[in-house]
Amino acid sequence: MHATLPPVSFDPGTGLAVLRTAHSLYALRLASDGSPRHLYWGPPLDPSELARMPDAPAAAASSFEADAAADELAPQTGARFGPAGLQVRFADGTRGAQWRFAGHTVDGGELRLCLDDRHRPLRAELCYRVRSGTDVIERWTELTHTGAPDGPEGPIGVGRLDSASWTAPPLPDYRLSHLVGGWNSEFRLQRDRLPVAETVLTSRRGLTSHHAAPWLAVDDGTATEDAGEVWSTALAWSGSWRITVHRDPGGRTTWTGGFGHEGIGWTLRPGETLCAPVYAGLYSPDGFGAASRGWHRYVRAHVLPGPERDRPVLYNSWEATGFDVDEAGQMRLARLAARAGAELFVLDDGWFGTRRDDRSGLGDWTPRPEAFPRGLRPLADEVHRLGMEFGLWVEPEMVNPDSTLYRARPDWVVHSSRLDATELRNQLVLNFARPEVEAWAGDTLDRLVRENGVDWLKWDANRAFTEAGWDGHHDPDRLWIDHTRAVHRVMDRLRAAHPGLRIEACAGGGGRVDLGILARTDQAWTSDNTDPVDRIGIQNGFGQLFPAQVMAAWVTDSPNTATGRRTPLRFRFHVAMAGALGLGGDLTSWSGEELDEAAALVALYKEIRPVVQRGHQHRVAPAGGPVTAVHYAAADGGEHVLLSWRPATRFGHRPDPVRLPALDPGARYRDLETDRVHSGAVLVRHGIDPRLPAGDHASSLIRLRRVPS
Ligand code: DGJ
Repeated sequence: MHATLPPVSFDPGTGLAVLRTAHSLYALRLASDGSPRHLYWGPPLDPSELARMPDAPAAAASSFEADAAADELAPQTGARFGPAGLQVRFADGTRGAQWRFAGHTVDGGELRLCLDDRHRPLRAELCYRVRSGTDVIERWTELTHTGAPDGPEGPIGVGRLDSASWTAPPLPDYRLSHLVGGWNSEFRLQRDRLPVAETVLTSRRGLTSHHAAPWLAVDDGTATEDAGEVWSTALAWSGSWRITVHRDPGGRTTWTGGFGHEGIGWTLRPGETLCAPVYAGLYSPDGFGAASRGWHRYVRAHVLPGPERDRPVLYNSWEATGFDVDEAGQMRLARLAARAGAELFVLDDGWFGTRRDDRSGLGDWTPRPEAFPRGLRPLADEVHRLGMEFGLWVEPEMVNPDSTLYRARPDWVVHSSRLDATELRNQLVLNFARPEVEAWAGDTLDRLVRENGVDWLKWDANRAFTEAGWDGHHDPDRLWIDHTRAVHRVMDRLRAAHPGLRIEACAGGGGRVDLGILARTDQAWTSDNTDPVDRIGIQNGFGQLFPAQVMAAWVTDSPNTATGRRTPLRFRFHVAMAGALGLGGDLTSWSGEELDEAAALVALYKEIRPVVQRGHQHRVAPAGGPVTAVHYAAADGGEHVLLSWRPATRFGHRPDPVRLPALDPGARYRDLETDRVHSGAVLVRHGIDPRLPAGDHASSLIRLRRVPS
């Protein structure tokens, strides 16, 4: 970055706004109609070069074509025929805003452009923020009804308020990378040629979803892990969302995104403001790997509440005991977990109310008397005595109809009383948008944490929304937004009241992982699928956006409960050591040798943890090939870890050496297992033998240390 240029500037004379990061520049310009139009997003440019950049043609090519200049947020007026990021409807039935530029503010790294409707009391602020030390630009929109309470303009219906619209530069072709999946198969990386069409990525589930993630990357079809320009964006929202990518026949590619799915709205009353969540964007000139590292840097520096804290090696009882939990059984597991080196013991589902299976008890957050006759405190004390922290599973947003809470407060669920409520996993969703429900959840969780010495909450959510309604409310659709905001607020409140408390995000595995939830949690339960072979692909997709320290990964039993696949303990460990390691098997069935091997591997993980959790991640042999390998490099370049996995062997196919391009070719590196010293140039250009043993489910962990020169 040019030393003297500010991160954010706006010139009222030319209407040019510029945002600068270390390796990128983003620019927009006000059009003659007052609306901000996209100008440039790519490598840095000098101010003189920028000033010479031509605007898109002022007029469309014909009376049938869209305006050539892409909007920063498209309203529903003018020659704009693509997806509108702002959709409003006034009381008289007219739709769409027509802007007049009404001023700007620049405050450090933040720019706000104010747009007033030329005809109505409506104001939009387009907000931009440069995030220091990263190449990420955050954007969001705030929409205000500026009319007086008793003014002539009634409430304004907001059908859509996107956070931002993004535009890729003209490219010979476009490719879209995104994440797809389902329960037990989240975060599968999908890389397709972008059709000349509107492509919708969305969740209508009230949760971020297992099925699609609000992250995408666009390139020209030739980018690789190590080279090529990549434009990527990620939305900080944990409820329903929608991103529409539009590659038009004229060759332009834009995408607009924000909270809410199609068909739900918001009624904006005079004086009210609706704030859209942050939609962050990152330009990388150096391929998908560098884009991921750019996101990881941003998540650590500007999203996570406690990025510097080591994620503990946890033990979780779910796969071992299911709902069949009691004090004696959990204490037995806790002792074995401590022996294996766990630092946190998490009591999962089944400890409360009448909960013996998934048919009852959700909502009644007091210990189940037959299972914990003395309450949870004796278990928590024993866990602490064993030198571990105590974690507790909760699912605060949900209720079983068979529960004391539901019998007392049937009106608290989101389901409209005029529709039959669909039960999923025998449960309904509580409407956190109701202030009394939010307060109840906050008080209940606060009490649980306070009374039981809870150091960690695993916050789960095991169903999607259906038949969402809010009887008696003037604007029931807003529960889709306000529920999520309240979940965020309850988490924030708990963290503020209990500064040591850590929270793990979970929604039936990875059903709610996004930048919004990660701003108030420490890690996410990646997937209920703990099969290490499946996990290689899941973890590869997860890591496109999120750093290893938030990727919870457990070692569980063999055969795996989800897939029935048998794999060696070492392979299971090596796959889980790529993230925040946990143990999730039935340790009572592990042999003494297995427990010893587990303890040794946990101890090894603790040695490599700073590099895995805080280092830079390089996908040196990306998932999909015969061998997958990930290289973690400490920020100072001293320590390195290479994890390699080969799920299936093939006769005659020796694994290729794995090249480590992030190493310094001028340095030398000692292999801590063999004591051999390697030339950096050889490791960069030729690679290292991943030393995979023969057979299926082969894996290795290689540690390299830079030799002082
Ligand atoms: C879904 C979670 O992903 C699991 O880890 C476990 O906590 C179960 N819910 C408990 O019901």
